[in-house]
Amino acid sequence: MGQHAKQYSDMGAASVLGIDISEKMLEYARAHNKACNITYHQMAMEDIYHIGRQFDLVTSSLVFDYVEDFDTLLKNIYMLMNKNTQLVFSMSHPMATAYDGTYDRYTRSESGERLYANISNYFVEGCRKIKWVLDDYELYHRTFSNLLNSIIKSGFIIEECQESHISDEMRMQYPDMFGGTIHCPDFVFFWCKKTV
Ligand SMILES: C[S@@+](CC[C@H](N)C(=O)[O-])C[C@H]1O[C@@H](n2cnc3c(N)ncnc32)[C@H](O)[C@@H]1O
Repeated sequence: MGQHAKQYSDMGAASVLGIDISEKMLEYARAHNKACNITYHQMAMEDIYHIGRQFDLVTSSLVFDYVEDFDTLLKNIYMLMNKNTQLVFSMSHPMATAYDGTYDRYTRSESGERLYANISNYFVEGCRKIKWVLDDYELYHRTFSNLLNSIIKSGFIIEECQESHISDEMRMQYPDMFGGTIHCPDFVFFWCKKTV
């Protein structure tokens, strides 16, 4: 938390604003990734239209999964950005967010090897309530086409899209952690531009 803010500060940004809804996360960022030109501010992403500043770069790592109204969020981000600037973000991949916690993520061999990623109700969009080891959490699932169309509708131009991909070497080395990644990407990354 705060690593990106620190990297941009180190790369020479005049000022960096990092927001998160969780004061605990911000405390961590202030403690581990501080610099005199970084401000960390508690704020929900749904409220960013209040910020009242213009930015040359907006970035987000694995936060947009939690917004219900993605179209409005993107429109608000677009309004906060100067001309010829960039939006770079990651999200959970729609193939991953389709999972609703009610079935096994993988079909396995008798020895436990992950043979297939299971997917169900991909076209049922909306809230997913996930039971997790520590806390339960909620996120919003949207299809890949709707994700793309939201970006396009907001006015951004997509320069590049990548899906998370683990090398064969890493997969062999850590089969428990990464064995399933050959079947289904967990994350998607976008590099977008605002040109006008
Ligand atoms: C998976 S963590 C990612 C944290 C960090 N961006 C990173 O990449 O290390 C998701 C973060 O989203 C934040 N979050 C969830 N809902 C939010 C909201 N509505 N507005 C702003 N932040 C939110 C959580 O507090 C949490 O810090």
